[in-house]
Amino acid sequence: MKIVYFSVTGQTKRFVKKLTMNDTYEIDPIDPEIEVGEPFVLIVPTYEKDITEPVTDFLYYGNNQELLQGVAGTGNRNFAELFVFTAKDIAMEFNVPLLYTFEFNGTTKDVTNFEKAVKEIES
Ligand SMILES: Cc1cc2nc3c(=O)[nH]c(=O)nc-3n(C[C@H](O)[C@H](O)[C@H](O)COP(=O)(O)O)c2cc1C
Repeated sequence: MKIVYFSVTGQTKRFVKKLTMNDTYEIDPIDPEIEVGEPFVLIVPTYEKDITEPVTDFLYYGNNQELLQGVAGTGNRNFAELFVFTAKDIAMEFNVPLLYTFEFNGTTKDVTNFEKAVKEIES
């Protein structure tokens, strides 16, 4: 499964680098309109909508939204009820499962759990 992600301060990118999966693509905030062309799972950090707008632009481009299989979110639990709202909103808007949530760049356990969740939707 391809992993597509967005990262503002580098935490999501650090998480992705820890994965055993190496078919990854980082959404470019300057040029988000790229057709991914294959099924993918999205990992997004949590910020106000104007900051995560490139993710929405990416998802609405071409047939990307039809290829989206699920979403995972990274955030900070100090934000309480706003924890990982970006991933939750995307899951609702595009009607895909919220596969996994974690804080910052994730622990070793988060890496294992996320990869397990991806394998489950692949089977
Ligand atoms: C300005 C700002 C606002 C944030 N707002 C939220 C939030 O509402 N909810 C949340 O769960 N995390 C929030 N976070 C935490 C980030 O989403 C989290 O640290 C994430 O791992 C950052 O990923 P990135 O470094 O790949 O951008 C915020 C962080 C910053 C700096």
